[in-house]
Amino acid sequence: MKACIYEEYGPAEVVTVGEVPTPAPRANEILVQVHAAAVTTADWRFRASSFPGGFWLAGRLLLGLLRPRHPILGMDYAGVVAEVGRDVERFRVGDAVFGATSRGAHAEFVAVKASGAIALKPASWSYEEAAAIPFGGNSALMFMRDFGKVKAGQRVLVIGASGGVGSWAVQIARHLGAEVTGACSTRNVELVRALGAHHVVDYTAGSPFGEGTYDLVFDTVGVTTFAGAKPALTAKGTYLPLEGSLGTMAQAVFTAFGAGKKVKHAISKNTRRDLEELAALIEAGVLRPIVDTAVPMARIADAYRLVESRHKRGSVIVTMHAPRPSAMAAPSQPARR
Ligand SMILES: NC(=O)c1ccc[n+]([C@@H]2O[C@H](COP(=O)([O-])OP(=O)(O)OC[C@H]3O[C@@H](n4cnc5c(N)ncnc54)[C@H](OP(=O)(O)O)[C@@H]3O)[C@@H](O)[C@H]2O)c1
Repeated sequence: MKACIYEEYGPAEVVTVGEVPTPAPRANEILVQVHAAAVTTADWRFRASSFPGGFWLAGRLLLGLLRPRHPILGMDYAGVVAEVGRDVERFRVGDAVFGATSRGAHAEFVAVKASGAIALKPASWSYEEAAAIPFGGNSALMFMRDFGKVKAGQRVLVIGASGGVGSWAVQIARHLGAEVTGACSTRNVELVRALGAHHVVDYTAGSPFGEGTYDLVFDTVGVTTFAGAKPALTAKGTYLPLEGSLGTMAQAVFTAFGAGKKVKHAISKNTRRDLEELAALIEAGVLRPIVDTAVPMARIADAYRLVESRHKRGSVIVTMHAPRPSAMAAPSQPARR
């Protein structure tokens, strides 16, 4: 099969398309013929060995100290079940599915655990849209619902509101009943409003905090600090960085016991339950994935360049087949709510 392969850490060009053996699914796995896969900020960090906040060594220990241990990246995929392992009852050959795995999805086939974060793909979604869901959707759901504990009536600021996680966080915070402010650059103001933000701050015209105060400041970009966010937090407000560091970990410990403003340090994970919840909310018209660009596998390096620009809108997708027409709303149309 064809796959996007990297054998050393480095710039986008270290990833090339080559031939590798097609994986054979184990008894508890399914083989998915990948039609579309997301190129996420995590894939970029793994490829470039670019880990923020003092986590470089931890990243290298995880991925391979001198060179990558696993040559195929890609966590989020959508495709069709091509083979099922002996013990698998949940899926059948021919099922259209989408999900998240730890690696290997930037390829024509990926073998994944059938019990993992996978769900059936409704026929009305394109494969590109389905692949755009797990990374941003799951992260935003956990950061808004579980770590940020967003409640109806709270004021929430999402910095990076048009990005991979931010575009979901705006929609999910709104769905949870918050008064949502999104911060982005001028070109994304209309998109963020269409995602459901009540207010939009154009950070190119001043501070990303705007004029308001917030119960929760969710920085998805890593452009603010707790000290800088303090004036924009309510008396018991929480500063929640998505790109946590050793520094924010320490701040989270020190602020955990006081009654005042807090820092929360957290890491999200993909679960089947959350993926199914996201799928139900998308089917109900409450949420929608944003696909910035979909490129064929041969242009994987271009996809990476867009991801590491930190100015993508929603998700960047690599396709293993021609893009299919979609029945879902285009990014420029207002969110259905
Ligand atoms: N802790 C965890 O569990 C976890 C989970 C998921 C992701 N992450 C990490 O979180 C980060 C975010 O991922 P992502 O995929 O959402 O990133 P992304 O898509 O690259 O974010 C892009 C967003 O950042 C905005 N932006 C760029 N420069 C800015 C600036 N100077 N000031 C304000 N906003 C700016 C962009 O807006 P404009 O284009 O309008 O400028 C856009 O909205 C990554 O580093 C990822 O590794 C951590």
